[in-house]
Amino acid sequence: MGEENTAVTLKTILIGNSGVGKSSVMNRYVDNRFTNMYRATIGTDFFSKAVRINGNTVTLQIWDTAGTERFQSLGTPLYRGSHCCMLVFDVTSSTSFSALEMWRKEFLVQGEPQDPENFPFVVLGNKTDLGNREVGLDSLADFLPFVHLPVSRRKAMQWCEEIGAEYFEGSAKEDLDMEKPFLKATELGLQQYKKHTLENTGHFQITCEQPRETRNTCEC
Ligand code: GTP
Ligand code: MG
Repeated sequence: MGEENTAVTLKTILIGNSGVGKSSVMNRYVDNRFTNMYRATIGTDFFSKAVRINGNTVTLQIWDTAGTERFQSLGTPLYRGSHCCMLVFDVTSSTSFSALEMWRKEFLVQGEPQDPENFPFVVLGNKTDLGNREVGLDSLADFLPFVHLPVSRRKAMQWCEEIGAEYFEGSAKEDLDMEKPFLKATELGLQQYKKHTLENTGHFQITCEQPRETRNTCEC
């Protein structure tokens, strides 16, 4: 099969509570830039980046959604056609971590992936630059669901094991480990693509000969 000569576009969508750093993570990965200024995403942004994986170049289309409730319902049709979903939380906020279960369910309902049981999720804990998290506050978070407490790596990994997701953590601010989650999303997305798109069409979908880096905005 001529994988090397064919441009494949993989869609990865970033979801999670407002302020966890979805836009920052994406901007760090695609443009290597970061700002402390917070500007809530309105609608959806997406960016395409050429990624080399296992000797092939694929176009990774990263969709950055709005975490605010006001725009959530607008974002849901955009979940469709995703090859991987990245669930982002803030490691200093147990509230943002607990919300991932809701985001995951929402994705599976609205995104309508084929074989939802085996749909690939990557979980990313952002803002690891913000102090010590291993302080044993995990159990307290269950009793204080509305208080932002730190989330330990152990707790995050435990949940990821339960749902069969890959776990990564890092900091968009300090540029710590921002590439690995996207490479994993590309790898898992490619597997998903081969399993479902290829099974359905029998061939690779040719989207563009030369993957180009593009940024688009949709405020629908
Ligand atoms: P919505 O668009 O509202 O859904 O938010 P978002 O998830 O895209 O968050 P955004 O990337 O806009 O970041 C929110 C705030 O967190 C901004 O002030 C960022 O500068 C800050 N921030 C993002 N990543 C980090 C990080 O790794 N460390 C620290 N300390 N701050 C960060
Ligand atoms: Mg944003």
